[in-house]
Amino acid sequence: MSDRPTPPPLPVTRIDVRAGAGRYHIEIAPGVSERLPDVLDAAGAPRRRFIVSTTIVWRLHGERFRGVSHDDPILIPDGERHKNLGTVGRIYDSLIRAAADRASTIVAVGGGVTGDIAGFAAATYLRGVPIVQVPTTLLAQVDSAVGGKVGVNHPMGKNLIGAFHAPAAVAIDPSLLATLPRREFRAGLYEVVKYGVIASRDLFGRVAGDLRALFARDPGSLVPIIADSCRIKAAIVEQDEREAGPRRALNFGHTAGHALEAVTKYRRFRHGEAIAYGMLVAAELGVRRGLFAPADRDALAALITKMGPLPAIGDLSAAQVLEAVGRDKKVVGGRLHYVLPTAIGATTIVTDVTPDELTDALVETGLRA
Ligand SMILES: NC(=O)c1ccc[n+]([C@@H]2O[C@H](COP(=O)([O-])OP(=O)(O)OC[C@H]3O[C@@H](n4cnc5c(N)ncnc54)[C@H](O)[C@@H]3O)[C@@H](O)[C@H]2O)c1
Ligand SMILES: [Zn+2]
Repeated sequence: MSDRPTPPPLPVTRIDVRAGAGRYHIEIAPGVSERLPDVLDAAGAPRRRFIVSTTIVWRLHGERFRGVSHDDPILIPDGERHKNLGTVGRIYDSLIRAAADRASTIVAVGGGVTGDIAGFAAATYLRGVPIVQVPTTLLAQVDSAVGGKVGVNHPMGKNLIGAFHAPAAVAIDPSLLATLPRREFRAGLYEVVKYGVIASRDLFGRVAGDLRALFARDPGSLVPIIADSCRIKAAIVEQDEREAGPRRALNFGHTAGHALEAVTKYRRFRHGEAIAYGMLVAAELGVRRGLFAPADRDALAALITKMGPLPAIGDLSAAQVLEAVGRDKKVVGGRLHYVLPTAIGATTIVTDVTPDELTDALVETGLRA
């Protein structure tokens, strides 16, 4: 027996979110995945519960979810390339075979891909049954599980088919992240940095100051940064569920980021890695317009460098990326809407970024002219 004192249990962090149709809670606590039945009951989730997960996640963590359902989990293949209507169809098949009725709840246990697919199945099965999100990647815990956007890809483009379907509850267990590959973890952490830049200098500072403990997956460091990220996203989404105004700040780093993903056919970067470059591009644009202090840009660049290696971009040309930006949905009426930082913790949206300006910022960030 060890005579080391047992650390006190970490407090449960609860965040209330107002969604169009009602309210839900996000519960963040190490170990919450093991008391999911209580969380589901407290949320009033209908009693027949169907877990949707992937073979990989289920092999790693399925044991924890034993008490949730008498039915076998619906296991879908892993990976973004299966985020399509075919996989949704397989979920419908399983639900229909099991005679799932309206008094059923779907519980998504997995990363953002699983949450988006299972959420879309839940939004549409019998015109909608409740979904509970149990995100297992950092990206899903800080981003995709919150906000109610669900959907799948079409061969012609990402996330072209979807719905808004707010969860009945979100249960976030940072201890699930212990098995997450370091690169996936980092990919999620870039989105946390994004929240810091758009809304909280304090969060930004905590990530920068706590990198070692975060990468060690220390729950004491993870809980507050996950909670802050969820609070920031929830607050923005509450004001603007359908992305008319404030929600656009969440797109910080995503204009050049999405373009980088597209020109590399979604193969080179994890989403967050492309966003890391996108944030650097936006920061550079901000500095060039005198909106953002060079010292803040340098702090962002230093943090991104300290977080670890990013895939190379030196072989990509600014012209290629510019063309991909032009095809993006952020071009409204021929004008490119761009989220620029004005400080660490604040942004503005400009609508007149010129191709020359963007080219310069891309080249400064490391692309070929
Ligand atoms: N709905 C939204 O608002 C929203 C927001 C952001 C992103 N998204 C979507 O999220 C998706 C990306 O999510 P993601 O990055 O979580 O990808 P993902 O779901 O593919 O998960 C990444 C990898 O991590 C593995 N994994 C998951 N949990 C694990 C664990 N605990 N331990 C070990 N391995 C684990 C998965 O098997 C997978 O290989 C994209 O499809 C994106 O469009 C949606
Ligand atoms: Zn993103």
